[in-house]
Amino acid sequence: MENQNPRPYGVGDASFQAAGGEAGLRKLVDDFYDAMDQLPEAAKIRAMHPVDLTVTRDKLTRFLCGWLGGPKLYAERYGSIIIPQAHRRFEIGPAERDAWLACMREALKNQPYAAEFKQYLLEQLYVPAERSRNKD
Ligand code: HEM
Repeated sequence: MENQNPRPYGVGDASFQAAGGEAGLRKLVDDFYDAMDQLPEAAKIRAMHPVDLTVTRDKLTRFLCGWLGGPKLYAERYGSIIIPQAHRRFEIGPAERDAWLACMREALKNQPYAAEFKQYLLEQLYVPAERSRNKD
């Protein structure tokens, strides 16, 4: 999928549109948690999550909609969120951060996004992933 929006990613809702809107992000997040179920290096972070990921999938999808400049769907349903605080109860070091990003890299392989958008998204996601890290 080309970035047919003339605005660069990150401006307005260009990234949300490039990600396929809410439906595209639901697919991305589904593939992301499927990757978390499968990648050996993600076993430890998978174990931090509930067995049933239905609500978790919904939360990440809604969060990403707003984070990418689309509608604030997380706040609408679940209220406000500060990403580092939301992760304080989990032990997240560099390996856990990188495992999370590896799941996202795996999920991105299945999406019909432009290669440059996949790259952009991974680079952007490093920021909240690193901010969620709470140990060395
Ligand atoms: C750095 C590695 C990360 C790990 C190990 C991790 C792990 C987790 C875990 C275990 C939960 C709880 C799930 C649940 O109880 O349903 C969670 C929640 C969440 N995570 Fe992460 N996460 C990471 C990075 C991120 C990043 C980068 C984002 C955003 C781009 C994110 C967004 C969220 C959101 C929105 C929730 C729901 C919070 C809530 O409503 O309580 N996470 N994460």
